[in-house]
Amino acid sequence: MDEMDALRLSREVARNVLKAINSIPPSKRGEFYEIGKSGVTKLIDKVAENSALEVLRKENLRILSEECGVVGEGDIFVALDPLDGTFNAIRGIPIYSVSLCFSNSEKFGDAFFAYVFNLCSGDEYYADRKAYKNGKEIRIGEKERLEDLNAIVYYPDRPLPFKRIRALGSAALETCFVAEGLFDCFVDLRGMLRIFDVAGGIYILEKAGGVAFDEKGQSLEKKRFEVSERVNVIATNRKLYKKLQELVV
Ligand code: IPD
Ligand code: CA
Repeated sequence: MDEMDALRLSREVARNVLKAINSIPPSKRGEFYEIGKSGVTKLIDKVAENSALEVLRKENLRILSEECGVVGEGDIFVALDPLDGTFNAIRGIPIYSVSLCFSNSEKFGDAFFAYVFNLCSGDEYYADRKAYKNGKEIRIGEKERLEDLNAIVYYPDRPLPFKRIRALGSAALETCFVAEGLFDCFVDLRGMLRIFDVAGGIYILEKAGGVAFDEKGQSLEKKRFEVSERVNVIATNRKLYKKLQELVV
């Protein structure tokens, strides 16, 4: 499988997920479905996952997905978040996405393609060696002064000097917003994120010229596509990273 196959497949997944979740009456989206591999699975999560797997299972892929854990066999590994931003989707807050990251091994460091689709706006982000939004190359912002930053932070445990602070509820999309320069950094040090929440967005952010590390300054390369591991993330441009780490850790 190459980048073009991964793009074609990701687009098919996005179309299927969009169609499937839009067919659920809004009042039923938040119904309890089961306790899945990552906690409570709502009806909308399961519908999104089933429709994504319907596409992906046609190929020989080893898939880590939020609700069902690992399924399938193959030499290519996929971290799938079928619906990132479940709370927003249930409440009708228009910020939620589907996210995929394709890798040659179970490690994020061997990723070769990622795709994030905004299920509300229809914006499409993907990256192979470069990063794109709706087919146009994107680059991360270049701000260097902390006071100038429009920051995404979950959640500040001390006063921070930034210009703005937001938390929007879909890590996959938020990291893409940083990749395209809408925001200047993404910080989540709660020990809550899982690799499928961020693998797609972080890969895109890195290919847009950004960097991402955990609170110890270690890159996410060694993170594995597995459900139990928690991930902390500080993601921004190269010039800002050190300053940001000193401030928030
Ligand atoms: C959630 C989103 C959210 C993040 C949570 C995740 P979900 O994923 O990425 O932004 O703050 O920690 O669990 O549950 O909506 O797929
Ligand atoms: Ca998620």
